[in-house]
Order: sequence, then structure tokens, then C-alpha cells
Amino acid sequence: MKRIAVLTSGGDAPGMNAAIRAVVRKGHHHGLDVIGVRRGYTGLIQGDFVTMDLGSVGDIIHRGGTVLYSARSEEFKTPEGREKAVANLKEYGIDGLVVIGGDGSFRGAQLLSDHGFKAVGVPGTIDNDIPGTDFTIGFDTAVNTVIENIDRIRDTATSHERTYIVEVMGRDAGDIALWAGLADGAESILIPEASYELDDIVDRLARGSRRGKKHSIIIVAEGVGSGVEIGRQIKEKTGSETRVTVLGHIQRGGSPTAFDRVLASRMGAKAVDILLEEKSDQMVAIRNNEITGIDFDQAFSMKHQPDMSIYDLAGILAI
Ligand code: F6P
Repeated sequence: MKRIAVLTSGGDAPGMNAAIRAVVRKGHHHGLDVIGVRRGYTGLIQGDFVTMDLGSVGDIIHRGGTVLYSARSEEFKTPEGREKAVANLKEYGIDGLVVIGGDGSFRGAQLLSDHGFKAVGVPGTIDNDIPGTDFTIGFDTAVNTVIENIDRIRDTATSHERTYIVEVMGRDAGDIALWAGLADGAESILIPEASYELDDIVDRLARGSRRGKKHSIIIVAEGVGSGVEIGRQIKEKTGSETRVTVLGHIQRGGSPTAFDRVLASRMGAKAVDILLEEKSDQMVAIRNNEITGIDFDQAFSMKHQPDMSIYDLAGILAI
């Protein structure tokens, strides 16, 4: 292995830059050339490559987003697109690729492996929805962004004695809602992994109000449905004032937390180790605080499930 490349793909996540930095610096530590691919698989097809020396990743560890840009490529899903990508990788003498992204991006990495090309995935997504790893890069920062914003909402919710419904991201996973809900003492947390009854939510609100609570926060994961619609239903049932906030893409931006910077640095470095061992078709994972590599097939055969003990605990504590 002499020359490796790195790309970011799919939705960006805070900490991706720290992961790029780790790949570049760890690669150079082992005497490798490192190439950056701009705009994910689109850049791979277009040959949008840039040499990454040690200085190219200076002053980025604390920045959100990705300096390599990101994209979701339809062309890469076609055999012709992939052949172009592989031809470019060969032309540039690249022996291995690190793909930082979510599970869709990993399926692309696996397809490259099917073409005989060595590719390793690093899980980067705020959703924390990749099976086989306890955490993904960006999740911790997104949760912190959510609670920072809910703390603000809480101030105005108390002043006006209102119920607030906050819709958070996560695609089909409830992890962001779950962690933010426990961290923020939300009255109810609605996640796709657990069914809910509107009557239970309303009962909970009534109980809180009877013991003098001045406001209520309900967190809705986007995978459950529209927070606006749930707000409308609650208002209809209770007749009390509600407001809905959809946090949206602010959850994807911002400076990564220490946890995400450390995770990204460890995962990026591990991806280089895996390539140096001439392995492929693997993703980096963190399990019980150990950084390890697992086969894509093994990861894809599992189903991501958030830690439901957090859900149960949040329900008990927010009584
Ligand atoms: O996967 C990250 C994520 O932010 C999801 O939480 C969300 O559903 C989706 O991406 C939004 O995608 P886009 O930025 O394309 O609107």
C-alpha cells in the first residue's frame, strides 16, 4: 500500500474534518501518499482529486462540515459510473480508499470492494443509525446542539406556560430524540422504535400541570412523522397552547464536541491501519469503547437499535 484516498459522502456530520485529518496524518506517519476526493463518489467519477499533505488538514479539527465537500451520487449506482470511478483510482495509482459517511456510502464502498478495490468505511452521520457500532461521528455534537436549543425553548416555554413540540432529525432512527430527551428531561419522547398513544402523552401533560409544572417539552423524532401534525393533535385534545419547533439542519452544523473529535481521530487512524493490513470490505466501529474493524456484511446483517433502557429511564424520570 503506497497511496490511499479519502472521501466524505452523504449528509455531512460534525467531526468529519477531524476524521479526514486523522486519515491524512496517520497515512503520512506510515509513509503513504494521501489523496482527497472532493464531493464523495461524484468526485471519484469525475477524478476530482487533490493531494493532501500534512498542512492541508491544519486548522480543521474544530470545524463542522467537511473540507472535502459531500454529495449523494446517483451515477455511482450505475455499473458505468463505478467503472469510471475504478478507472480513475487506478490511473492515480490509488491502492485503498477510506469512505467517511453513512450506510448508503458504505454500500458504495462495498461495491468498490466487489471490483477488487480495497475500501474501508468510517461511520460519520448525526443519526447514529449504523448497525455494528455504538456511536457514529457527529451524533454527540448533534445531541448537544439539540439540548442547547431546547434549553432556550424551555426559557420561553416557562414564561408563557406552554407546551412545546420539538422535531429533531435522525432519519428512521430515534437516537437523537432519545438522548436529547433524557438529557433535557422531556415529558415525552416519540421515536420510530416505540409505539405511542396520544392519550398517554396528554395524561402525562395533565399530571405535570396538576403538580404545578409551568411548561412541557415533547421531542419528536422525524422518523415518527411531522412534529407540526403531532402538535396539532395535542392542541386539539388538550385545548392548551402549543408551539412547534423543527430544528432542521442546524443539527448538522457546528464545531464538533470533544467526544466526536476523539472518536473521529481514533476511527480515521484505525481505517488506515485496516488498509495497511491489506484488508478491505470493512467498516470501523466502536464497541464498548474499543475501536475495531467489522465486515460490511456482518454490519449489514444487523439491525440498528437505539438503547431502549434510555427510553425506559426517561419515562420514569419525567413522571
Ligand atoms: O442523515 C443525516 C440527515 O440529516 C438526516 O437526519 C435527515 O433525515 C437527512 O440527513 C436530511 O437530508 P438532506 O440534508 O438531504 O435534507
